[in-house]
Amino acid sequence: MTDSVAFPQDRTCPYQPAPGYQPLAEQRPLSPITLYDGRQAWAVTGYALTRQLLTDPRISSDRTNPQWPMVSAAAAVEFSDAQRKVIKLLTALVGVDGAPHRARRKLVQAGFTIRRIDALRPKIQEIVDRQLDEMIASGAPADLLRAYASPVPLMSLCALLGIPHEDQDFFEQKAYQILFGPNAGGAYDELMAYLVKLIEKRDQQPDPEESFLDDLLAARDAAGDVDYEEVLQALLIVLVTGHDTTSSSIALGAFTLLQHPDRLAELRADPSLLPAAVDELTRLVAVPDGLQRVAAEDIEVGDTTIRKGDGVFFLFSLINRDENAYDEPGSLDWHRPAFRDHLTYGFGPHQCVGQNLARAIMEIAFGTLIERLPGLRLAVPGEEIPVKPGDAFQGLVELPVAW
Ligand code: HEM
Repeated sequence: MTDSVAFPQDRTCPYQPAPGYQPLAEQRPLSPITLYDGRQAWAVTGYALTRQLLTDPRISSDRTNPQWPMVSAAAAVEFSDAQRKVIKLLTALVGVDGAPHRARRKLVQAGFTIRRIDALRPKIQEIVDRQLDEMIASGAPADLLRAYASPVPLMSLCALLGIPHEDQDFFEQKAYQILFGPNAGGAYDELMAYLVKLIEKRDQQPDPEESFLDDLLAARDAAGDVDYEEVLQALLIVLVTGHDTTSSSIALGAFTLLQHPDRLAELRADPSLLPAAVDELTRLVAVPDGLQRVAAEDIEVGDTTIRKGDGVFFLFSLINRDENAYDEPGSLDWHRPAFRDHLTYGFGPHQCVGQNLARAIMEIAFGTLIERLPGLRLAVPGEEIPVKPGDAFQGLVELPVAW
């Protein structure tokens, strides 16, 4: 094996892999990496190997494993008991293996039917129109991330969950505090109390405009042994996992489009290309770029052995650019025959349950943005757009635009 490469590293171009990952691209499909604390781990960078390993039961998502690999010092800080409780609840789906995972996933999945997502489309369109109206009224330049890419998925998720419009600020504030605030425990309790009330109201007086919540309640009744707390956790999981990923994908995708004026003109002229364009952008920008796992047993890969306890990271910016899976993988081309085959939504038992909703939100968000703002452009040179420091998830700090 060759020299170990440091992980994670910063991107310089927002939609390209970090330049320091070039040796990993040359060594596909598996290479040693060194984490922030000097610990050795593995980077998976090949498309076929990713599909193989993400369906291998020896590759574990169990975040309670003491050998779970940490991506940064910030992720490894000592949390208070209250914060630990919240983290445990928030990872109750994505951080669990086997049968307990399948049971919980069944509950969450109940709310993501095609019917539910189709019914939500007009509401997403309203949200998108309102956010654009506000942004246009405030005048250029604007930060497209704060004015559009972030609120659109958040409000769409609130609409999915049936959170009334007037409660959305409260909801956003508490969800944010849970994730990042020192008072995570208190915010969690407040949000739980709010959700209990929402569910009680629903139980007594079903809303004619039924929501995801009603699907969840029906799944709870059918399962019999699923309790309130689990329904509430499912709601929180959906909100937390769905917001940042979709928001970053819209911001990075908009930047990518603005850097490809010919492609953008093609899309504007033919909106029927939007579904393929959304997936192609999702492939190229690869917001999750270091999905974590831990090896529960020794695993042979060719003549290399991933040892029990080793950390394993899936780098989707490189996996989605594997030349064995794509022609000209670095180019933005939505005429690829199997445009949904990228792995940005993961693969195997944990593959994103919200992907069709994410697609619907992005289709409406990109479609409306380019239709209503034909003069949309970056307000500063592309090289000056600040990217977030390298992490398991990529994103922008801000996206100044004019029109
Ligand atoms: C472009 C946007 C999105 C991207 C790139 C994305 C990506 C992913 C990935 C890679 C996973 C797999 C995690 C793993 O294997 O450990 C995942 C899981 C998940 N995603 Fe998404 N996601 C997006 C949007 C959403 C949305 C909008 C929702 C909800 C409304 C959502 C809900 C979930 C949930 C609940 C899981 C956990 C599934 C499980 O562990 O069984 N995601 N997502």
